[in-house]
Amino acid sequence: MTTQLETSTHAKSTESRASAGYREPVQQTSGRAHGSWLPGVTSIVFGGDYNPEQWPREVWDEDVALMKTAGVNLVSIGIFSWALLEPREGEFDFGWLDDVIDLLWRAGIGISLGTPTAAPPAWFWAKYPEARPVTRDGVALGGGSRGMASPSSPEYAVASSRIVRELAVRYGAHPALRLWHVHNEYGAPVSESYSVDSVRAFRVWLESKYTTIDALNAAWGTTFWGQHYEYWSEIDAPRRAASVVNPAQRLDFARFTNNALLACFVRERDILHELSPGIPVTTNFMATSCPAIDYWKWAKEVDIVSNDHYLTGERGDSHILLALDADMVRSLAGGKPWLLMEHSTSAVNWQPRNVAKVAGQLARNSLSHLARGADGIMFFQWRASRFGAEKFHSAMIPHAGPDSRIFRETVALGGELASLSELLGSTVTAKVAILWDWESFWAQDLEWRPSSDLGHRRQIETFYGRLWNDGITTDFAHPEADLSGYDLVLAPSLYLLSEAGSANIRAYVEAGGTFVASYFSGVVDENDTVPAGASPGRLREVLGLRIEEFRPLRSGETVELDNGLIGAVWTDEIVLEGATEVAGYRTGATAGRAAITRNRFGAGTAWYLSTEFDSVQLSTVLSEAMLDAGLAPRPNAGDGLEVVERRSVDTIFTIAINHGDREVAIETADAPPVVLAAGAVSISRRPVDALAS
Ligand code: GAL
Repeated sequence: MTTQLETSTHAKSTESRASAGYREPVQQTSGRAHGSWLPGVTSIVFGGDYNPEQWPREVWDEDVALMKTAGVNLVSIGIFSWALLEPREGEFDFGWLDDVIDLLWRAGIGISLGTPTAAPPAWFWAKYPEARPVTRDGVALGGGSRGMASPSSPEYAVASSRIVRELAVRYGAHPALRLWHVHNEYGAPVSESYSVDSVRAFRVWLESKYTTIDALNAAWGTTFWGQHYEYWSEIDAPRRAASVVNPAQRLDFARFTNNALLACFVRERDILHELSPGIPVTTNFMATSCPAIDYWKWAKEVDIVSNDHYLTGERGDSHILLALDADMVRSLAGGKPWLLMEHSTSAVNWQPRNVAKVAGQLARNSLSHLARGADGIMFFQWRASRFGAEKFHSAMIPHAGPDSRIFRETVALGGELASLSELLGSTVTAKVAILWDWESFWAQDLEWRPSSDLGHRRQIETFYGRLWNDGITTDFAHPEADLSGYDLVLAPSLYLLSEAGSANIRAYVEAGGTFVASYFSGVVDENDTVPAGASPGRLREVLGLRIEEFRPLRSGETVELDNGLIGAVWTDEIVLEGATEVAGYRTGATAGRAAITRNRFGAGTAWYLSTEFDSVQLSTVLSEAMLDAGLAPRPNAGDGLEVVERRSVDTIFTIAINHGDREVAIETADAPPVVLAAGAVSISRRPVDALAS
């Protein structure tokens, strides 16, 4: 398969590209560093994690020469270098980093400088063993690896602030510096810590949230199983116990953990803003694959959103999961440009079977991120390690060296991206949103739910996959976000719903929106408490129904509907309260009762699906809801064809990617069809005015 780019911009020579992409950083005099994009960067960012400390000095020269060949204009350095930069507590050695940065700068390559606080040195663990994170089972995690200290450790706060301050003072105004890369993937590989410091900090957090112990007792429902507290000092982290621990306590601990990690980021960010004004600060998210982090909250704190994404190599729909993740990142960024901080040129090393990418997939994956709003494409990592835990991970230069397909594809991609500067800052608009709320996931994933087959993630993937196959670009939104710009809003199993969230959904539908909720939605409030009255609690009025009893199905059991669809996992005993039955159950314990309902509410419509459908069957239901919303599948959608538009003030860029193994003709409203070969990508442009004609 080949990548076929049909672009009309002028490719510059590699030599001029590396330097032409940069101006001097814009220095900000006061306040928070917050620009639209990286200071001084005027082309699509291209590069990767660079770990020169793993290589002898002579390799650095070759690295820089090959980076120029590939059109690399930004590298992330120093992410795990704490032990080398501060070999003994309070003693620093920046010589090697000075050399690397100057070498890169002289070659016109910018740096995204890491703060190395995701890998505290051996001296730190030896001197402060109490800073080790403790698991729910009470195991204090050891060193010799990487990963966060207990986020509430005072010793970690002191040590991490010190190294960040040193780096900021030394490099904060370096002309090569484009971006600060704080820490690495907060929340992974561990998030929660049950250490002594964490328990102490949890109590302080609870006291500031609830003020009185009575308020906490009420919110947590501690009259159940005699869990009443008299004093804050009696409260523990929800460590492993004889039976199920209070779900409201666990939910609060998840919130506390997210908050404690975010405080670590903010502490570093504030030092960098103070000492390195004008340089944006980010930390790399794992948008849809880090369950512990509520990225809606984090997105407000970073200067630009950046993300790491790795294909689930074994899944045939990995390109759809990639699109889901990229759409989530764009949504977190509020539609602004974002940076793909890491992905892989080929196989990773940490999946059960690490499937290598086929020819052309490197470009297709990269351009899919670009299509969905990324203004920079970076990889983990520049040169494949020869030792350590990640030596079997692919890189821009694999063990096979530059004379390899991977490096040739890397160079080709760098060249293509250099010709796409026009796309910088152009945006993607979606008319459909899927509601996504980490608090709801945290709550739903606790023990003793009505069925162990409940799966919000599986359902979101089914809904998203359906829309992807229908050629519909989708955003993700928090239930309390402004939904007014969307024609259709989907809530796959939105278990926890706040008062504000339900009022928001209600207002959206009342004003004319189309809303689709699937089973086990609106079941509890913020404290994992069932609101008074029948389910679906706060969605009852808008959906126009109540549920007498949940009827989860047996493992593998299915039910037939009278419109021929097959449901799985779940059914409800629905009582209609104004909604119309669209389809009923023909078999099973709920035979004769409504399965799919539709309710006119205000100027809008609210649908309820009381069972789970696979992607093919969901198409039947969603196509009707799409009619209500005035939407239709894109012509010739499906067949592995991905088409996304990015718009600037005057131009619409259409990025089409053929993930299939047959050529496809892309129909356009105002031009003859374009034939796209199997595996190919095309980027076409037309003036915005053409829309009006
Ligand atoms: C990321 C991490 C990188 C590298 C990569 C390998 O999660 O940020 O440092 O470990 O995984 O896929």
